[in-house]
This record gives sequence, C-alpha cells and structure tokens, in this order.
Amino acid sequence: MYRLFAHALTLSTLGLKVCRDPRWGRCYESFSEDTSVVRMMTDVIYGLQGNGTPGIPFVSDRSKVAACAKHYVGDGGTQRGINSNDTILSYEDLFRIHVAPYVDAIAKGVSTIMLSYSSWNGVKMHMNHRLISTLLKQELGFKGFVISDMEGIDFITDIPDANYTASVLESINAGLDMIMVPFDYEKFISTLRTLVNTGYISMQRIDDAVTRILRVKFSMGLFEHPLADRSFSPHLGSQDNRMVAREAVRKSLVLLKNGKTESRPFLPLSKNATRVLVAGTHADDVGLQCGGWTISWQGSAGSITKGTTVLDAVKAAVFTTTQVIHEASPTAEVAAKTKADFAIVVVGEQPYAEGAGDNTNLTIPDEGISTIKNVCSEVKCLVILISGRPLVVEPYLPLMEAFVAAWLPGTEGNGVTDVIFGDYDFVGSLSRTWFKSADQLPMNFGDPIYDPLFRFAFGLGMGKLPR
Ligand SMILES: *[C@@H]1O[C@H](CO)[C@@H](O)[C@H](O)[C@H]1NC(C)=O
Ligand SMILES: *[C@@H]1O[C@H](CO)[C@@H](O)[C@H](O)[C@H]1NC(C)=O
Ligand SMILES: *[C@@H]1O[C@H](CO)[C@@H](O)[C@H](O)[C@H]1NC(C)=O
Ligand SMILES: *[C@@H]1O[C@H](CO)[C@@H](O)[C@H](O)[C@H]1NC(C)=O
Repeated sequence: MYRLFAHALTLSTLGLKVCRDPRWGRCYESFSEDTSVVRMMTDVIYGLQGNGTPGIPFVSDRSKVAACAKHYVGDGGTQRGINSNDTILSYEDLFRIHVAPYVDAIAKGVSTIMLSYSSWNGVKMHMNHRLISTLLKQELGFKGFVISDMEGIDFITDIPDANYTASVLESINAGLDMIMVPFDYEKFISTLRTLVNTGYISMQRIDDAVTRILRVKFSMGLFEHPLADRSFSPHLGSQDNRMVAREAVRKSLVLLKNGKTESRPFLPLSKNATRVLVAGTHADDVGLQCGGWTISWQGSAGSITKGTTVLDAVKAAVFTTTQVIHEASPTAEVAAKTKADFAIVVVGEQPYAEGAGDNTNLTIPDEGISTIKNVCSEVKCLVILISGRPLVVEPYLPLMEAFVAAWLPGTEGNGVTDVIFGDYDFVGSLSRTWFKSADQLPMNFGDPIYDPLFRFAFGLGMGKLPR
C-alpha cells in the first residue's frame, strides 16, 4: 500500500540508492497524493519524539517519549488475515507493501522497532537474520534497537518454550537487541550468559545490542532522569487534552460518499432541523467508540470511561428547538414514524484485540445491517461506521445519502459532529484500500489487479469550509 517513491526519497536522505537495487522494484518519478499519505502517517514520530537529526534516534525533551514502530514485518499480510500467522510473499512485494513504512520511520529517527509474532514464508520474524540484521540494520541503517514482542522468542518453537536455549540463541543471533521477558527473567539471563560463555553468541553481538540500547537511553536523558516526570500526570484527561483528541477525531474521519448524485451533496447537515433520528448500536456507547486495548485488553461496550458519544454530541450541536430522537435498532415502521428530516445511523464492530479480531467475512454485524436497511429506506440517512478496519459496505451504499468512516474515534464524539454539521471540512483520506468484498483480499495499492470500492488515499471534502 506504499509507493516506492517514498523509499527513494527517504533513503536518499540516508545516503542509500534504493532505486538502483533491482530487488526493490522500480521507483516512481513524481510525488503523488499517495506518498503524502504515507509521509503524514509516520509524522506521528515527530509528535512522540520531537524533532532531531534525520535517521538518528532521538527524544527531544522530557515531554516526549521514544517511539516504537511495529510489528516488523508483514504483520498485516498474513494468510487469511489470521493473527500472528504466516505472510507468504516475494521479497519484492514484502518490501513494497510492508517494509516501506519502516524505511520512512527510520528516516524520521524512530528509536525502537518491535518484531512481529508472525512469520515470513514460514520463518518466524523473531529469528529472521536477513530481515533484522541485514535489511534493518545494515541496508536501511537503523540505529535504534530492535525489541521482541512479549514472550516473542518463546514462540519461535512450534510448542512455545519447548527449547528455550534455541529461542535465545536464534533470536539474539538474528539481531534482537532487547527481549521482552514478562516473567522468568532469571532464566533468560542465565541462558544468554551460558550461550555467550560457550561461544554460541559472540561478544560482538552483545556489544551491538548494548550500544543500541545505550544510544536510545542517552538520547532520552534516562541517565540524568531515570524516573518518569510525574508533573505531567494532571494533564491526563484534561480539557486541553480532550480538545486535541477532538481535533484528531475530526481530522481522521474519511468522507466516502456525499449525496446520491455529485451535484446534490447531503453533508453538511443542518443544525436547525425539526427532527433528527439518531440510530444504531454504536450511536450512544463510549466503549464501542474506543474499541480494543482501551481500559482492558479486549475493550468492552458501555461507559468504560468518561467521554462524549455521537448521540451526546448531536444533542449538543443542534438548535435547542431541534428534537433528537434516539432508537438503537428501529424497525422500518418506527423509523418512518419519526418523520425525521434526516437520520444519522451509527453502526460498526464490537471491540477486539489481536486474534479475537480475526474475521474472514469482514461484514458489519447483522444488527447494524438491519438498522441501515430499516432507517435508510425510510429517512434520508448519513451512515457512520465505527470500526478498526474497512468492512463490506458496497451492497448498502446505494441506500445511503452519505457515508463516513469514523474508525475508532475514542472518547470525543464531538469531533464527529464538528465535521458532519459543517463547522470544519473533512480532511481525512484512506490509509488503506477499501475492498468491495472480502474475497478480493489481499489487495494492495500497486497490485497488478486493483479493483477496490475506494482506492488507497481516497477521501472527499465538502468544500469551502475551514479545514
Ligand atoms: C497459521 O494458522 C494455522 C491455522 O490456525 C496454523 O495451523 C499454523 O500453524 C499457523 N502458522 C503460523 C506460522 O503461525
Ligand atoms: C535445543 O536447541 C539447541 C540449539 O538450537 C539444540 O542444539 C538442541 O539440540 C535443542 N534441544 C532439543 C531437545 O531439541
Ligand atoms: C431555523 O428554522 C426555523 C424554522 O424553519 C426558521 O424559522 C429559522 O429562521 C431558522 N433559523 C436559522 C438561524 O436558520
Ligand atoms: C463473520 O466472522 C465472525 C468472526 O469469525 C463471526 O463472528 C460472524 O458470525 C461472521 N459473520 C457472518 C455473516 O458470517
């Protein structure tokens, strides 16, 4: 999904000539919309770490943190999308689709890179010398450190931890610098020490790891300030922080359809309607807006934390004279009876993390589909999808006046109403290809056959509004 021009540009700042290496395919000649999407995504590294010297890990001051690019590499390209499974691809395609963002991240000075539990062509990433030592460190010139995922080295063997000596030997010699050992660190240290003392792991390899870890720790000022600066803790959840989160929401929404015909845009909606119907399982639920990895590992529905739902935000946005009707799962009859001027239908997925999110059909759960059909057949509707990934929407698109991908907007639902009611324009564009049906997958920008519903980097604006 990344164009090679991005590599050429960033690698030239590192003094490498990737365009001349035939393994990495051809270089694109002109700057395009697509490369700018890639470059904006890795700009998050500047936000986390501050600004420094290109290609060198840095953390500019104590208000910043060390960034980690993960999970290296091919994590999103596994067979049938099975979590932590095998990514079967040629080197050229692996580089074009999956390595490209790391090239950009390294150029922007990312401090650490975490490995993926997954395999590439049957070899676990946690023991892949070619992709870690040769590609990342030598060819791409990564100067930060490579870290394992939690217990990642234990999973090198088919039965986890079946041969811990092999786990330590293979991973350290492949080029891992820091190992995430959540429980038995004494076993790790003694196993590593034995392997070094018996010559199976060289001191040169240990020196490389220590050099990289110290380089990052020095750049973070950890020797001057070993502990966290707790003076920042009152900012957590503060109004200022929420305003930033709200801005992030309105800038990340992607408008994918606006009006049944181009000449008759449906958005922005009027704040001065008589009646508005807000429908759908996801219209009034902070937990569903947040998704997985929020408060708990898998996340959950409900009021898991303080926040504003889309329904709260709609009520706050419209005129006091506007009646807001809320129905989670209305029948067509109920929807028709509201006589609403328009409907806002908010549907999507349940929260998930890791393997619990594995799904080969990628459809909107049934209740959401029924609500789209029931409401949009009776009332002109905007559909807002809350999901961590593209889902099948093509069959329902003709029913909708407008369609917005809101991803997982988190606690600040008013970031959604900021744009749908026209206080700001949409600026988001797709960071991945939106398929028509799941059997098209995998489908990436630049593939010889590319027939998406919405192409990579697609996104509409409403025009003439503040952005
Ligand atoms: C991929 O998933 C299949 C089915 O669950 C499993 O049998 C196989 O071992 C997995 N492969 C890897 C490399 O994880
Ligand atoms: C464990 O791994 C080591 C290092 O690869 C190997 O020499 C040894 O034979 C393995 N032991 C077993 C029981 O497979
Ligand atoms: C809001 O709508 C009412 C009823 O249509 C109308 O009388 C009023 O002028 C509108 N107000 C604004 C500010 O557009
Ligand atoms: C799609 O897959 C998910 C996860 O396996 C499953 O829960 C759901 O029932 C499936 N939906 C359909 C329509 O097959």
